[in-house]
Amino acid sequence: MAAKTFCIGLMSGTSLDGVDGVITDFSGTPSSAYIPFPATLKNELLALQSPGTNEIHREALAANQLAHLYADCVTELLRVSGVASSRVRAIGAHGQTIRHLPAEGYTRQINNPSLLAELTGIDVIADFRSRDIAAGGQGAPLVPAFHQSVFGSDSHARVIVNIGGISNISVLRADGSVTGFDTGPGNVLMDAWIHQHLGKTYDDDGQWAASGSVIDSLVTRMLDEEFFRQVPPKSTGRDLFHLLWLNERLAAFPEARPQDVQASLSALTARCIADAVRTYAADCDAVFVCGGGAHNSHLMQCLSDLIPQPVESTASLGIPPTHVEALAFAWLAQRFCDRQAGNLPSVTGAKGERLLGALYPA
Ligand SMILES: Nc1ncnc2c1ncn2[C@@H]1O[C@H](COP(=O)(O)OP(=O)(O)OP(=O)(O)O)[C@@H](O)[C@H]1O
Ligand SMILES: [Mg+2]
Repeated sequence: MAAKTFCIGLMSGTSLDGVDGVITDFSGTPSSAYIPFPATLKNELLALQSPGTNEIHREALAANQLAHLYADCVTELLRVSGVASSRVRAIGAHGQTIRHLPAEGYTRQINNPSLLAELTGIDVIADFRSRDIAAGGQGAPLVPAFHQSVFGSDSHARVIVNIGGISNISVLRADGSVTGFDTGPGNVLMDAWIHQHLGKTYDDDGQWAASGSVIDSLVTRMLDEEFFRQVPPKSTGRDLFHLLWLNERLAAFPEARPQDVQASLSALTARCIADAVRTYAADCDAVFVCGGGAHNSHLMQCLSDLIPQPVESTASLGIPPTHVEALAFAWLAQRFCDRQAGNLPSVTGAKGERLLGALYPA
């Protein structure tokens, strides 16, 4: 029987856009698949971000639906790659974050890994974040260890920025040391704002933002947020950055045009990232961007305007920006299978290295 050399990574992040999947044997080019969320599931996942009626039942039903979409993504990955399921060692399934409150000792990614194992016949590793929080860490970001393993260089200090719903940076130094943290909003506020005004799920290429003018005093007002003053380790999510947060800050700007607000939100995302680079990685050689935000050329231009170092997509290091986070969860699944730690205490603040995840056998 052929060796089980492949792992699958399934990531569905804060943006609530859908599932990014990859299948890889960590040598050749991975195959990828993307399954968008149906609007009904997206709306339910959004509703589950805040307290509501009969949450436990609704959460369980949403988790089942998610497991079916994850299974569809696995089927598609096996189809496009031509890899037999018997050659897959494990699926790393992140689940959907509906609460991230490390200060209160928990984070919750809804998922039904038992159902996913049943539907696919493949071992599933899930719940990657809880153990790091149990060890006193933030449980996030978890991707810097993977970033180090694929993008680390012994001659260059590099920063990797993932711009998903939330943005996080990994600072990879030439001596092998790694730091990283969530910088704040990535696309989440821009997505919410364009949805409210134009009914679109995102601002394609940042064109709407580019049509507006940045309101500097609004950006300053938004930057006056306690999270931005906290020193790392730190992590955040929709628990903090949501439309209500934005509307509270907009109250002082009743005349602001919607496209100017979008321009200001794009500037906010770029400012938070640029400030993080200046404060924690001023000596880096280059900044590489992954996540959906890498496809927003207006945002990429805002970053280039603020950051003195070259700003490029991770594609220039050989990995397309939308594959990076899913690959990280394939890598974390492999780490679990090899009984190797997945967290970096220098990033999350955990008391030590820990094995991340729990096994749901096929
Ligand atoms: N062509 C594009 N133009 C502008 N924005 C885009 C484009 N493509 C994707 N995006 C943005 O990227 C988002 C999706 O990014 P991604 O999937 O990396 O985030 P995520 O699901 O929150 O993941 P994670 O939590 O792992 O970072 C979309 O919601 C959208 O805002
Ligand atoms: Mg996504």
